[in-house]
Amino acid sequence: MTQLLDGKALAATLRSEIAGQAAAFAAAHGRPPGLAVVLVGDDPASQVYVGSKVKQTAEVGMRSVEHRLPASTGQAELLALVDALNADDAIDGILVQLPLPPQIDAGLVLNRIDPAKDVDGFHPVNAGRLAVGEPGLVPCTPLGSVALAKLARADLSGLHAVVIGRSNIVGKPVAQLLLQENCTVTIAHSRTRNLPALCRQADLIVAAIGRPGFVTADFVKPGTIVIDVGINRVPGEGGKGRLVGDVDFEAVAPLASAITPVPGGVGPMTIAFLLSNTLRAARLRLGGL
Ligand code: GUN
Repeated sequence: MTQLLDGKALAATLRSEIAGQAAAFAAAHGRPPGLAVVLVGDDPASQVYVGSKVKQTAEVGMRSVEHRLPASTGQAELLALVDALNADDAIDGILVQLPLPPQIDAGLVLNRIDPAKDVDGFHPVNAGRLAVGEPGLVPCTPLGSVALAKLARADLSGLHAVVIGRSNIVGKPVAQLLLQENCTVTIAHSRTRNLPALCRQADLIVAAIGRPGFVTADFVKPGTIVIDVGINRVPGEGGKGRLVGDVDFEAVAPLASAITPVPGGVGPMTIAFLLSNTLRAARLRLGGL
């Protein structure tokens, strides 16, 4: 039987643990951990994500501060907001939702965030810490993906993991985390030759391509653990959009030993680890509890 890796349930468990720890932090420091979320423009998907982040931050007893700026916001204005949040002692985490409008250089903005408050783990200082194995803030989706893989198999040591996708947000950091778990890691991408044959050598596949149903049955040998990071909106019945992953779930699930659904897999885990990173940043900044 294929194990369904239920990210919704695991995220709920993590949130209840985080809520207890956030309360202990608040008791010790006289204030809860604080997360600032910045959304520029009106991208519909980003609005949904930011809404969920803000709601869940409050639900675990943390302070949530939301900054919604118009699509016309200039770079200097956004950098000034980041500077103010960096200087605000009651803010432990800063998240600038991506994508940003074209007039703004996203790299410049992300690099302006104090690495100690970089709960997305996108700052080059945190990416470097992850690469050399020093403690730092690690991107949320990779943390959630590996936690789900470990639900299938607590010890991933020695497995051949094929990560499809080489982004700074998912592909590269998830590869680093799997290396820390003692996997043999291959990073595949759009120029990789004979991808299905390569993937058939994998014991663990992490699909982070951004193309609906890209991973089909011929990518998967029997018994593989399949983690689907994709969130793609495709036309559904009655003109309504439907969310699907990067994996053709119906075709792949019977072959896999364990697989994440979309929705309800990696997605909820990303927000749970955002809350976990906020708590971690708060503790690291203030010390102790
Ligand atoms: N846009 C889509 N995913 C993410 C994420 O994990 N962090 C941020 N900041 N923006 C995103």
